[in-house]
Amino acid sequence: MSRLSRRAVLAGGAALAARPAFGVALPPVTTSSRIEALLGRMTVTEKAGQLTLMASAIGGRAATALNPPGTGPSAEAQLSAAREGQLTGIFNGEGSAWHRRLQQAAVQSRLGIPLIFAADVIHGFRTIFPVPLGEAASFDPDLARRTARAAAVEASAAGIDWTFAPMVDIARDARWGRAVEGSGEDVLLGRLFAATRVAGFQGRDLAAPDALAACAKHFAAYGAAEAGLDYNSVDVSERTLRQVYFPPFEAAFGAGAPTVMAAFNELSGIPATANHWLLTDVLRGEWNFRGLVVSDYTADEELIAHGYARDGRDAARLAFLAGVDMCMQSGLYRDHLPALVEAGAVPMARLDKAVRRVLVLKAAVGLLDDPFRRLAPGREKRFVGLPAHRALAREAAQRSIVLLKNEGGLLPLRPGQRIALIGPFAAGPHDLIGPWNVYGDDREAIDLATGLGAGVTVAPGSGVETVLPGGIPAAVAAARAADVAVLAIGESQVMSGEAQSRTEITVPAPQLELVRAVAATGKPMVIVLSTGRALALDDTVLAARAIVVGWFLGSESGNAMADVLRGRVAPSGRLPVSFPIESGQVPYHYDHKPTGRPASNGAPVAYKARYRTVPNAARFAFGHGLTYGDITYGPIILDPVLAWDGKIEVSAVITNRGHRAATEVAQLYVRPHSASVTQPVRRLIAFQRLDVPAGGTATAAFTIRRQDLAFVGVDKRAVTEPGAYDIWVAPSAEAGAPATLLLGAPA
Ligand code: BGC
Repeated sequence: MSRLSRRAVLAGGAALAARPAFGVALPPVTTSSRIEALLGRMTVTEKAGQLTLMASAIGGRAATALNPPGTGPSAEAQLSAAREGQLTGIFNGEGSAWHRRLQQAAVQSRLGIPLIFAADVIHGFRTIFPVPLGEAASFDPDLARRTARAAAVEASAAGIDWTFAPMVDIARDARWGRAVEGSGEDVLLGRLFAATRVAGFQGRDLAAPDALAACAKHFAAYGAAEAGLDYNSVDVSERTLRQVYFPPFEAAFGAGAPTVMAAFNELSGIPATANHWLLTDVLRGEWNFRGLVVSDYTADEELIAHGYARDGRDAARLAFLAGVDMCMQSGLYRDHLPALVEAGAVPMARLDKAVRRVLVLKAAVGLLDDPFRRLAPGREKRFVGLPAHRALAREAAQRSIVLLKNEGGLLPLRPGQRIALIGPFAAGPHDLIGPWNVYGDDREAIDLATGLGAGVTVAPGSGVETVLPGGIPAAVAAARAADVAVLAIGESQVMSGEAQSRTEITVPAPQLELVRAVAATGKPMVIVLSTGRALALDDTVLAARAIVVGWFLGSESGNAMADVLRGRVAPSGRLPVSFPIESGQVPYHYDHKPTGRPASNGAPVAYKARYRTVPNAARFAFGHGLTYGDITYGPIILDPVLAWDGKIEVSAVITNRGHRAATEVAQLYVRPHSASVTQPVRRLIAFQRLDVPAGGTATAAFTIRRQDLAFVGVDKRAVTEPGAYDIWVAPSAEAGAPATLLLGAPA
């Protein structure tokens, strides 16, 4: 019975000096004598235990509601699994005291290998930041780095070492409920936010007590589920994978994410969890990823339901040999890997590789040096819910708000205006923090009524999806007695998130009834939308003079929304997803292909790519968002010829004729006139947040190099082709007129 000695730990620690592989600043696996020595002493059963991750017996507040119901182990059973070396770690556990007890059990196991504590820390721990889709609306990737850092400080203080975030799935189909967890439909935003979230979670040193190891998920193309149905099949071309769905993962690894989660979905016939091409050929062969692959929740077992594996043993074999190192929740690796190795169906060398990756991860987050690194008593109290985090939550929420419409400058509200605050999201501790929260609590968040403060009459008017008896007359009376009606309507937080796909991406009918009744009073209306996805807005909603998207803004929801509504803060967010005209258009994304019969968005023309009733356009385009200024873009100024190895400047002067300062997000889009692979009608290649003073100007200036014009070519590698390109500097993906740029041929 020998345990890890302190000396061995230190020696190993020294040998484990960081060496960057592709994006993974992990210790060099082969030179880690300590890990090798440990491996040499492990039984096959202990090895399988190191690959077995289980949900915590004592779950984080909401954890139990976030996965399918199951009969988990008792706390005692989990403690004894830890003592017997049957467990590599747990996820979504509650509180450092419980984590400490488990770690004490683990260090008493035969080899004393510490547990790793994982959790879904998606957009905050106790202090909740806007849902990731909302935060992407800030078009401020550094904001995501800061909120991820704060989340890591809180979560690590509760003993968590590893977060199942960032979720980097591109989501182009608004029916899919999990769009709320990512950065929307655009690849550039997806890449930038993936990288900054990883950087934020991990901080400067993965072994620091306040660092969380990141996990890019869900690999791959989970967001491309057919018909927007969660878990559904995905069948996309390899080119689209490489052009659209892979880049955010590459960005996450580039930023140092040491782990990745395989997706639930099948990918063109082979489930991602058993997809050797994806998990081994691409991930390791091409990208040289050195980190750890973890399955999603029981995804290995689900290979049976996919019709891919015969039984549990077959499922374990297929997932493991394809490249899934660690199995989450099914227990299949624990149950079957020893026998599979014994039977020669799984090589011992492959088992050792996977275990080595786990030990390297544990070393990297500092656990082999000190199993109690994130478990010091008192840290949780000290760091969770810090006032600075609350202030950051307010700032992040303010920046995530998108002003879609503001006719006649109805917003900001004027001091002294009597406000009727109407709708199911007007007041109360619900639907504030968003759907994917293990540790947050709506009761600790600020609702809109509280944020707006005194002088506001509140009338719910309607349920979210049900009629509220007497609700409409009371709301109408409140509106009549007010100068302005603010209607807080939209989706509740359970209407998006995992397994919450919708067929119609609309505001539910009872709320539309309410809006109609309030509109009939003739009082000016401001609509504030709660939502976890893009919505197709009904004419009733569109008739309001002002519309604001509030997503789910987190702990400081009501304060931040009130800051913007009252004009203490100017709105600066932009849509990270296109809001289509009707639900039937989805999947609608701004970077769609032109087709051979493109339609203009004007009067309908026969035999063109448009719908009978609506054009193939957005109601509110990707990138759209108004300010409280009055913004116009001057002509694009550019040197029209770009030499093959050169660079050019492209700029536009932005003028604010309004009386209020504005923060404008200028966006740079491109499209080649022709290419060897058809290209989207526009593609975002850069953007800038610019302060434009009232009555003043600012210049959006970008540099373009040949690489910025690259795309995935015929041979599925990045290429750039000489020729003419349209270039836009514009306030959204469907605004502005292009200038032409000529890329010269190589010398
Ligand atoms: C989700 C993952 C999550 C896991 C653990 C799954 O249902 O797809 O995103 O990390 O549960 O909670």
